[in-house]
Amino acid sequence: MNTAEFKFQSSNKSVQNLSVTWQTPSNIALVKYWGKSDPQIPKNASISFTLNNCHTTTTIEFSKIAKNENAQFELFFEGKKKDDFKPKIANFFERIQEYCSYILEYNMVISSENSFPHSSGIASSASGMSAIAMCLMSLEKQLSPNITESFINKKASFLARLGSGSASRSIEGPLVVWGKHAKIEDSSDLFGVKFPYKAHPIFENYCDTILLVDKGEKQVSSTVGHNLMYNHPYAEQRFLQANNNLEKLTEILQNGDIKNFINLVESEALTLHAMMLTSNPYFILMKPNTLEVINKIWEYRNENDSNICFTLDAGANVHVLYPNSEKTDIELFIKNDLANYCQKNQYICDSVGLGAKPQ
Ligand code: DP6
Repeated sequence: MNTAEFKFQSSNKSVQNLSVTWQTPSNIALVKYWGKSDPQIPKNASISFTLNNCHTTTTIEFSKIAKNENAQFELFFEGKKKDDFKPKIANFFERIQEYCSYILEYNMVISSENSFPHSSGIASSASGMSAIAMCLMSLEKQLSPNITESFINKKASFLARLGSGSASRSIEGPLVVWGKHAKIEDSSDLFGVKFPYKAHPIFENYCDTILLVDKGEKQVSSTVGHNLMYNHPYAEQRFLQANNNLEKLTEILQNGDIKNFINLVESEALTLHAMMLTSNPYFILMKPNTLEVINKIWEYRNENDSNICFTLDAGANVHVLYPNSEKTDIELFIKNDLANYCQKNQYICDSVGLGAKPQ
């Protein structure tokens, strides 16, 4: 695998102090990434919608220091020093230092905040890691002014992946593919690429309302979760199925076949959970209200000839997906009915977005 293009070449530019701020989005996978090998290489290709309202805003203040052996940094989350997040970030910096040797020559003060409530059960690793990656690329641009925007996005995705796999899909939008796939030109296991075909207008401004069914800490960390796919009896079939589903979805996204979209997306969500039900150790990540909500969605869809559907990530929260043209009716249904199954009636209305923004 050719990672040489991502190695920073020393430059004669010097930057003493720099403060940069990026806002980067969360994403929701339609075809799921579940299973990886070292270093953060996915077992199958995945695709996600980039979100608009769920994002992380991160500032890094870089100050030049004498070269160190390890990255020097401090971490603040929502205004408070967060030493318990440090090991994960230290590990990330260690992984990326061969590609960003300059980080060893700076002290970094990292301050982050999320737009979504803390411990809402919404994974923040994708937006969190992609924001740091974009900030690093802003410094790299100062050190190497000739790098192009497309290289910046590609390398940011490459770096973000080394922090969290799904973070590789949190740089651009509205649809991003990560993982080598025959039908997606230039796709790679190393970084995410924008879906290269024109999506049907029905998928424009597609809506995603996240129902906060369970705001607790994740029952299964992503590392433990992905490891469950080692020696899993259905693993190889699952990886094949995911790649086939991505091929089918590539057509569906272009021709606007919404019924098949719904079928594929819901099947992917349930398959992800089926993998956890059938691994050893085994986990049930849905809660009773997750099932209540799914049944309500199916009932509403049948009774109203609607195109509402759901997807899940590795938890109990439900992402309700629907075309923008059905927004008014479905948001009423969510408010009056589905909200009752959420903790404190809380949910977050979101829609598909375009990716990272400098602040
Ligand atoms: C279920 O990206 O959180 O959300 O690479 O270990 O950080 P790591 O895993 P992570 O896994 C996300 C899994 C998922 C499906 C998906 O987003 O594709």
